[in-house]
Amino acid sequence: MISMENGQSQSACPIGIFDSGLGGLTVQKEILSQLPNESTVYFGDNGRAPYGNKSRETIIRYSLQIVRFLQQKRVKMVVIACNTASAFAYDAISAAAGVPVIEVITPGAITAVKASKGRRIGVIGTKGTINSGVYERALQAASSKQLKVYSKACPLFVPLAEEGWWNHPVADLVANEYLAELKQAEIDTLVLGCTHYPLLQQAIARAMGPEVTLINSGEAVARTVKERLTQLNLANNSGEAPQHEYYTSDSVEQFAELGSSFLQQPIKEAYNIAIERSQT
Ligand code: DGL
Repeated sequence: MISMENGQSQSACPIGIFDSGLGGLTVQKEILSQLPNESTVYFGDNGRAPYGNKSRETIIRYSLQIVRFLQQKRVKMVVIACNTASAFAYDAISAAAGVPVIEVITPGAITAVKASKGRRIGVIGTKGTINSGVYERALQAASSKQLKVYSKACPLFVPLAEEGWWNHPVADLVANEYLAELKQAEIDTLVLGCTHYPLLQQAIARAMGPEVTLINSGEAVARTVKERLTQLNLANNSGEAPQHEYYTSDSVEQFAELGSSFLQQPIKEAYNIAIERSQT
């Protein structure tokens, strides 16, 4: 156990989690459920979302600003709860964070390979994630046999999720349109390669039909977080009640309302942070 300057042991420090907005709450939800002793600091960059069609340079700049904010919160680990930031900024974040960093792509790819019997796997994500080819590489690396991977960018899913239109008829229309070609390709497993997409899971499941297994990497990411904390002797066993802080770069009301309904527990307070200005 590492001693910190103020006497607080590092294991009692929070886990820092970030995303472009609400999507990372799909990972947060699993962390709250699998690691009930851990405190968390969540940052949603709703004011600058979506990330999915921005350049690599922009995503790296935004991510490093957020990591500096999380460092000020003395986090003991950073979870990049965003596929786009994981695809573009993992190396830069790892170099800057000074604490262990967990990305969301590898755990999801491993889960998908285990779930797929026919080795025909679909991946949906933002334009940035899909064009980076990161999932094809991660899926192939996780499989000893050759896979067929079909990828499709679904950029409209993110604003639908941020708007709270999770079960709105428009979500079904958009899902049917985007997913028709993956359905035709007869995939048996579909990776939700954007942390916003589990919010639309029901519409996606209706479009794909019951024979396709949907992979939400949140559960596997939380498991990875737990394993790493244990390996590094950083799991919190202080016995104190965990604290959860939520920050957003946009409306705190919208964040707290939609976030609470997704987490199925109240976000009593969310704080607004102008992330560009919080940095010196
Ligand atoms: N939820 C993020 C992801 O997993 C980003 C979505 C976006 O802002 O475009 O890629």
